[in-house]
Amino acid sequence: MEPLFVVFLQSGITEKYIIKIMYRTNTCGELNLQNAGQTVTLCGWLQRSRDLGGMTFIDLRDRYGITQLVFNMETRPDLCEKARKLGREYVLQATGKVAERSNKNPKMPTGEIEILVEELNILNPAKTPPFTIEEHSDGGDDLRMKYRYLDLRRTPVMRNLELRHRIAMLTRNYLSDLHFLEIETPCLIKSTPEGARDFVVPSRMNPGQFYALPQSPQQYKQLLMVAGYDRYFQLARCFRDEDLRADRQPEFTQIDCEMSFVEQEDVLQTFEGLLKHILKEVKGLEFGAFPRITWNDAMKYYGSDKPDIRFGMKFIELNDVVKGKGFGVFDNAELVVGICAEGCAEYTRKQLDALTDFVKRPQIGASGLVYIRCNGDGSFKSSVDKFYTPEDLQRIAEHCNAKAGDLILVLCGEKMKVRKQLSELRLEMGSRLGLRKPDEFAPLWVIDFPLLEWDEETQRYYAMHHPFTAPHPEDAPLLDQPERWGDIRANAYDIVLNGNEIGGGSIRIHNRDMQNKMFHTLGFTDEKAQEQFGFLMGAFEYGAPPHAGLAFGFDRLCAILGEADSIRDFIAFPKNNAGRDMMADAPSPISNEQLDELAIRLVPQEEK
Ligand code: AMO
Repeated sequence: MEPLFVVFLQSGITEKYIIKIMYRTNTCGELNLQNAGQTVTLCGWLQRSRDLGGMTFIDLRDRYGITQLVFNMETRPDLCEKARKLGREYVLQATGKVAERSNKNPKMPTGEIEILVEELNILNPAKTPPFTIEEHSDGGDDLRMKYRYLDLRRTPVMRNLELRHRIAMLTRNYLSDLHFLEIETPCLIKSTPEGARDFVVPSRMNPGQFYALPQSPQQYKQLLMVAGYDRYFQLARCFRDEDLRADRQPEFTQIDCEMSFVEQEDVLQTFEGLLKHILKEVKGLEFGAFPRITWNDAMKYYGSDKPDIRFGMKFIELNDVVKGKGFGVFDNAELVVGICAEGCAEYTRKQLDALTDFVKRPQIGASGLVYIRCNGDGSFKSSVDKFYTPEDLQRIAEHCNAKAGDLILVLCGEKMKVRKQLSELRLEMGSRLGLRKPDEFAPLWVIDFPLLEWDEETQRYYAMHHPFTAPHPEDAPLLDQPERWGDIRANAYDIVLNGNEIGGGSIRIHNRDMQNKMFHTLGFTDEKAQEQFGFLMGAFEYGAPPHAGLAFGFDRLCAILGEADSIRDFIAFPKNNAGRDMMADAPSPISNEQLDELAIRLVPQEEK
């Protein structure tokens, strides 16, 4: 093949980066009528071919688009014969003249032209792929995961990864302009059993000893602050051995950040600025100051620490208006709480039964659902008419600000449990009513989280965020009063977008006495704290500055901005829900030799 020493200008790349490419003159996504008459060479994959007897058409695809190739039986029977024999996904190089199409396709950027092929090289044949490589593939999830390299050829997946790249570049440039340094921290670190489970890695050179993969670079970024690198960030890979969901992967990426000599306000402003910048560049949307809500209010009004505020339907507590009317279920409940679904009074019996079934599902666990229809004629119809007079129902409706035509849905039970249950119902109603639009974006901060969380099972407090989070300055004295530990607020914040926690962080403890007190509260003995976090605590004795930080879940941010539900679609090679890499078939057993070398002995189940 004659090498083609021609200049290749990829769309969007400025002249200073022009490079000489031997294989092709153009991409499959850029030619139009202005190029008519030019001789070009394209490379790509055969997406589709149509044999019309006298003519054969091939859609040639690359990362940039699709261009139609034409082979004419009259002028080039040899090439036409060759083209007819090609299969899907063959890798081709075609040279020919750009010509105006008689049958234009206005939906494609290259739809006005076609290439009259004069030379065709098969760069590589291909087996027929197990699913169609098109916008909407016929392949199921498992098959596409197994052949992920083929799935990655599909345009929607490519667009997702392009978006991910763009957000990464926007982040890097924005933070770098603010003097943040990107510094890499190690992936083989010490295991610290707080938070999720660690993935561990055996050390051959230290038999019986293990590294852990980082759940986040938390301690290292704090050490960088001690070292004086006062603005750090990293697109950091994190590993957590936890149950997987659509928004969780065992390995994922954070935009991890830390700053010295800052207070909460500085951190919120800095990272609100970053998210605003990304939203503007990617979505063309401008935002004023993000709303802020305390954790207490988030729980009270939305039953969730990550409220979706694209729609209202705030909780209304009803204890004062429903108790004492002889309805034991409400009278005995710690909290009776409802939402008002606008315009839903016409819901049929069947629809109401479906909602009742929804809240009774074991994952939600409510014992029942009470409804009050506020009919158009001003009357009321409820599932508890036996206990409440029309006047009582009117009072409840007024309390809920409900209008004629609205539907009030009520749950009751233990305060925290019923709030969680109603939160699920609120989201379900939001979805049913089309109020959770993927192309609408509603960011907010949730602040003043509790510092500690009581665990019934182990009968001890755990750090809600992590053990380095500082208490709210007003609440710090409560650390000396164990009976008030549950009331202590943390100097911690989460950033929430469309009902997803996309980031979180805190002001850190930088003083050794306070850190000791915190470990004591979390039930660590001095020795245990020393053993696990000694290096960080030691470092704090050599001049730790006041510092604070935050980490965004990068994959989640990409998925939400890509208007998708699952982060998997924004990760090139994700794991499935069982944590498996279906393509490489990992995890997999290792040989006895490898096990011996690592001084690991597998104990058969029956010997345990
Ligand atoms: P946190 O544990 O809240 O904080 O994590 C920060 C953000 O990371 C994302 N995230 C995940 N994304 C995908 N898959 C997962 N398994 C997963 N787990 C978490 C979430 C979350 O908000 N070191 C602290 C941050 C700090 O204090 O600076 C930390 O890791 O979007």
